[in-house]
Amino acid sequence: MTTELGRLIAHRIALTGPISIADFMAEALGHPRLGYYRRALPLGGGPLGAPGDFTTAPEISQMFGELLGAWLADRWLVLGSPAPVRLVELGPGRGTLMADALRATRGVPGFHAALDLHLVETNAPLKEAQRAALLGFSPSWHERFDDVPSGPLLLVANEFFDALPVRQFHRTAEGWRERMVGLAPDGTLRLALAPGLTPFAAALPEAAPGAETELSEAGRALAATIGTRLGRDGGWALIIDYGYDRPGLGSSLQAVRGHRGAAILDRPGETDLSTHVDFSALAAVARVPAFGPVGQGDFLCRLGIVPRAQSLKRHASPEQARAIDAALARLIAPDQMGTLFRVLALGDDRSAQPAGFSDTPSDST
Ligand SMILES: C[S@@+](CC[C@H](N)C(=O)[O-])C[C@H]1O[C@@H](n2cnc3c(N)ncnc32)[C@H](O)[C@@H]1O
Repeated sequence: MTTELGRLIAHRIALTGPISIADFMAEALGHPRLGYYRRALPLGGGPLGAPGDFTTAPEISQMFGELLGAWLADRWLVLGSPAPVRLVELGPGRGTLMADALRATRGVPGFHAALDLHLVETNAPLKEAQRAALLGFSPSWHERFDDVPSGPLLLVANEFFDALPVRQFHRTAEGWRERMVGLAPDGTLRLALAPGLTPFAAALPEAAPGAETELSEAGRALAATIGTRLGRDGGWALIIDYGYDRPGLGSSLQAVRGHRGAAILDRPGETDLSTHVDFSALAAVARVPAFGPVGQGDFLCRLGIVPRAQSLKRHASPEQARAIDAALARLIAPDQMGTLFRVLALGDDRSAQPAGFSDTPSDST
């Protein structure tokens, strides 16, 4: 049994022919009424946090948002304390990261007075959660980053780029073929390779038969826009996500529903789809100085997450202390989020090495 959105997509394909995986993802995640990231969230479930489909770093521990807040405030000082500065979060979820970041930076003289907060979010219930989490900071909401007004920029995006659509390709004996979503004889959705060469497939580098690869036009377009803004108006962007540092072969698109793996075409609109982010592609198209990617574990340790955990534990019950240790391990351990999650900074100045990207202290920290 498919979903209402599954039937709509099948109808579209019956009318106009097979669609790319990217078009399928755009519908499955972003359909204005039925997309996974647009739907009213089921009570107690839906994206973010048990019993939904996954949990994210800011929901694991306040330490994550606090340290990112300190990083952003440091970048603001390096920029010369511009006022106003556009503080932008892409896909803020429940608003937890930003709330923790703002609480942690209350003591930075002039920082909060300079902030003009912009949230890029398409999900109405999550916007309400963000409003509640960020009372007193008067955020503006946008459906797209392009709508954020110009001016010096401090941008953060945690687990946002992985939700952007990708095209998928398979190298056959005849060359690269794009994987498409078509219809089985019974009218259900099914995956199949395009019979001939498509424009993107024609431009891919050579590889051995059997190879797979992915390409996100949406991710590249967004990184290019952010880079243009940083180059023009000044500022810094911090992108955190699971992904890989160098261009590589392989397919990473995965589907998750209720904490379990699912088939990609299964129950569109009720299933989360995500991919590993190609950080080298984002850095290349941004065309501004890039730092990293480095592992989330190294990044957070260089920013001082271990002493922060110790300081939180000083006022904690034994049970709370165990929870703090567990959260710390989850965020930084190499076999948990520490290595798979990568951190990339984009900035307007190559000389201003940001904190967290090397063991050499930067001038500003
Ligand atoms: C995986 S959640 C991450 C939430 C948050 N950053 C965190 O770390 O907890 C993705 C977020 O991006 C939003 N989102 C996904 N696709 C989007 C799009 N195309 N435009 C705007 N927001 C989007 C979702 O509604 C959600 O807030």
